[in-house]
Amino acid sequence: MRASTTGLLAAVTAAFMAASAAALPQHHLTARAGTASSSSSAASATSTASSDNVGTTSLDGKEFVNHGLVAFGRISAADVDSFGESIGGVGSAIALESFSKKADGSFSGSIRLQPDRGHNQGGAATSDYRARSHLYDLAFTPLDKAAKTPASENFKLTYRNTLLYKQGSNFTTGLDPDQVRQGQPPLPVASYDNHVTFDTEGLVDVGPVLIVSDEYGPYIYAIEKASGRVFATLAPPAAIVPMRDGKTNFTALSNPTTGRTANQGFEGLTLDRSNGMLWALLQSATIQDGGSSKTTNRYSRLLGWAYDPTKPFNLQPTLKEEYVVQLPASGKGNTRASSELHIVGDGVFLVLARDGNGFGDNTAQTTYKQAALVSTKEDNPTNIAGTKYDQPQNPVSPGGNLVAGITPAVVHDFVDLRATDQLSKFGLRNDGAFDQNLIASKLESLALASVGDKQSPDDYFLFVVSDNDFVTLDGKQAGQINGTGAYVLASYQDPYAQQHGSGDTQAFVYRVTLPGYRQPAFLGPN
Ligand SMILES: *[C@@H]1O[C@H](CO)[C@@H](O)[C@H](O)[C@H]1NC(C)=O
Ligand SMILES: *[C@@H]1O[C@H](CO)[C@@H](O)[C@H](O)[C@H]1NC(C)=O
Ligand SMILES: *[C@@H]1O[C@H](CO)[C@@H](O)[C@H](O)[C@H]1NC(C)=O
Repeated sequence: MRASTTGLLAAVTAAFMAASAAALPQHHLTARAGTASSSSSAASATSTASSDNVGTTSLDGKEFVNHGLVAFGRISAADVDSFGESIGGVGSAIALESFSKKADGSFSGSIRLQPDRGHNQGGAATSDYRARSHLYDLAFTPLDKAAKTPASENFKLTYRNTLLYKQGSNFTTGLDPDQVRQGQPPLPVASYDNHVTFDTEGLVDVGPVLIVSDEYGPYIYAIEKASGRVFATLAPPAAIVPMRDGKTNFTALSNPTTGRTANQGFEGLTLDRSNGMLWALLQSATIQDGGSSKTTNRYSRLLGWAYDPTKPFNLQPTLKEEYVVQLPASGKGNTRASSELHIVGDGVFLVLARDGNGFGDNTAQTTYKQAALVSTKEDNPTNIAGTKYDQPQNPVSPGGNLVAGITPAVVHDFVDLRATDQLSKFGLRNDGAFDQNLIASKLESLALASVGDKQSPDDYFLFVVSDNDFVTLDGKQAGQINGTGAYVLASYQDPYAQQHGSGDTQAFVYRVTLPGYRQPAFLGPN
């Protein structure tokens, strides 16, 4: 760990412990609410929900209810941030920073949107992308059940500002990590400008700190929000670090011999504020677990690190739990890889699992996009943390076949994000022409906020935002020119956009019932 200042650590510790403390009483309330609902209130809750219940999933003896799509909006692919660069990829990860209900029944707040590594095609000028996150205001009034459809778009996102991330005195880069900077832990670096490479995919907001997960390491970084500076780095067990011939090698241009598959790193990151456990989910299996093919890579890994609340927050938590997650697969046996993770209860998570079809892909017809559920209790999965499986020579599922003695956690369908009747409320489709009403291929992020309804305390808004891969005809991105240190803006036209048009960022709001879940008060929300 490198801490820039002890003052910062103290501030973060205070914030983190405040978050945990705020969570605790609510956590205890959860137990009482759960007891009550097993007697009388369960029936009333079910009957209130029945008018707009579009699907129920039973898990851990509880009923999770999907009430359907209530809001939809977009961010134009032509928008630029305060650095003049295209706003794209922003649905890679999201985190609410504030949220409240107004007397007129509308909701407003702010949301942080975090893009990944920038535009993929082109030279250094458009790929030497500095990792960042954007803060937006949000506002919506949920769609009335009696509303005439297709309704007009009712989810408004307004740009406020951008935070660039820094490692030491340098910005990070989206370029491929073709070098290793030795240290504890070794860091992925691009030889082009000797900057640390970030392909950011997960985001947790803890007041003055952002916790960010990436695909190159795959690492987890703690970033001071005031400065954008990384102050601590968490590396996963050796089994997950990409290695070639026993040596760490972070390139994502080809697969390692063991460790995370290229571009299949920590897509999912979430913090359980009731107990300080930080959870990360790989997009699909490591190479030794069958990661090289869609037909063998369904056994992913979910890792849980515990912070010691009596010690300063130092991002050196202890790996306490690790499960094999059996991702869903198509009829042909192709894995529906995971793009996000969000805690919704004690050991219960939403997992965003999906196909790659829709706008952004060459196949329009989508067949699977789910905010699904996974539980570390329901299936009694095997905890492999600290076992031989944390070493690369001991795969849990060589060639995609689970070894004997390991029980995986299974993914259960919950919110169907491509449901025709829900998308059509806003004139959207899950098939047909490649236009702006076709669902985006890459839905990649989840966030939750309580609907604030005393009658339905378990009801939440579920936010889902797409990653448009910076597919635009009006592309603008800055990179360093020949390592001079100066960032120069360059224009690009994405080839997919030349064929099908620019791809807006799509933002969806669903309403769901998460039985017994009590999201801690906003501090720092999630
Ligand atoms: C990483 O592996 C790639 C592909 O084998 C190779 O070209 C590259 O030189 C290696 N990088 C390092 C730092 O060893
Ligand atoms: C960067 O370096 C390349 C190759 O040396 C050169 O062709 C190019 O003109 C340089 N660009 C700038 C902006 O200095
Ligand atoms: C910082 O970036 C410059 C190029 O902008 C590079 O020459 C230098 O080596 C980098 N230093 C570190 C410590 O990353």
